[in-house]
Amino acid sequence: MKQIKTSSPLHGEITIPGDKSISHRSIMFGALAKGTTSVHHFLNGADCLSTIGCFRQMGIDIQQETDGRILVQGKGIHGLTAPSGTLNVGNSGTTTRLISGILSAQSFTSFLSGDDSLNSRPMGRIIRPLSMMGARIESLSGNDCAPLMIQGQPCLHGIRYESPVASAQVKSAILLAGLYANSPTTILEPSLSRNHTELMLSQFGAVLHTTLLESGEAESTISPCDELYAQDIFVPGDISSAAYFIGAALLVPGSEVLIQNVGINDTRAGILKVCKSMGADITYMNQKDGAGEPTADLLVRHSSLTGTCIEGSIIPTLIDEIPMIAVLAAFADGTTIIRDAAELKVKETDRIQTVTENLRAMGADITPTDDGMIIHGGKPLAGATIHPHMDHRIAMAFAVAGLAAQGETHIQEEQCVDVSYPGFFEMLSGLTR
Ligand code: S3P
Repeated sequence: MKQIKTSSPLHGEITIPGDKSISHRSIMFGALAKGTTSVHHFLNGADCLSTIGCFRQMGIDIQQETDGRILVQGKGIHGLTAPSGTLNVGNSGTTTRLISGILSAQSFTSFLSGDDSLNSRPMGRIIRPLSMMGARIESLSGNDCAPLMIQGQPCLHGIRYESPVASAQVKSAILLAGLYANSPTTILEPSLSRNHTELMLSQFGAVLHTTLLESGEAESTISPCDELYAQDIFVPGDISSAAYFIGAALLVPGSEVLIQNVGINDTRAGILKVCKSMGADITYMNQKDGAGEPTADLLVRHSSLTGTCIEGSIIPTLIDEIPMIAVLAAFADGTTIIRDAAELKVKETDRIQTVTENLRAMGADITPTDDGMIIHGGKPLAGATIHPHMDHRIAMAFAVAGLAAQGETHIQEEQCVDVSYPGFFEMLSGLTR
């Protein structure tokens, strides 16, 4: 259990670990490319290590250099070999869904399984479109969840798929299977989800393009591909991890924190827009555009926040940050409404429920809804015992709440932060020294 006390002002400069989504993709695409892919600032979190473990099991040599770089010895698009046992995807939805697109087209059968949370998350959303492409995927428990058996099919066919959800994991699974199809594959999503797959696959030599339609929908098409080419990948700091330090600096009076080299890709940076609309003092410095993934240093100062409304196409760009945003809303003056976010129910936990349970424990006025929550902010919050239910983002968001609440907060199962942010608590306490 981690004890958090009301904090003195936070001061300092920090560098956030590498982006989780981009780190996963660098391993996967590196494995499928010819040659050595070198990954700088890779996230050594448990989820990304699950991805490394799976590709090692399929014959890919992946080593960490003394300077921290990861070297992936790619074997080409048809170079994976049959794993000797079940692929362990741990807690990682990204590993599971993206790898399923790849495994659908291999010349071998594979089995994959994860922890209890992972094995209860919906996989029908990828099983359906991949099956339309000719894949053979079976949910071994018969409930559209992992464990999955994937019998690779050497000849997939291109489809045009209208996804009911804006999900980068679904989109990426389909695009990766599309690399192996015999004709182009198109996915239409209700609004644009994070586009790291499109940006990085293009960098590796795949041919794909995305069109934003007048309706607000986004359409991405990938052409079949014979070869991907190894790359040097520079992973920016993860904005989803930076979110907790942005939140802490905004909430604790007197704070001023510089967060260096954060990825600010538009399809991820919704939290910055929301913070701005709540009155946050955040300055972008040193903006760069590295291989399609823009970055900036963010200077964040304590601010008085007001409630806001978050809905529609911005939701996929901040879906993982909603626990942190909900905490900000509880300390803000006025009401915050979050809607169109039913996807929260199928994350590592049902985050509508886990945010509500824990904010109520601290004394906040929050009403859960079918697709979000309503928070009447400004009530003083008191320290409480927080139950993350092994969800890393709940543990971190409520550690920040504990810094701004009166009294002591106890975060249970604090080790769950290792999924995306080993060293989180040390970095947080380092800013108050
Ligand atoms: C991710 C996409 C998002 C996000 C997850 C990582 C990715 O999930 O919540 O943490 O790397 O593609 P969905 O695509 O299912 O919304």
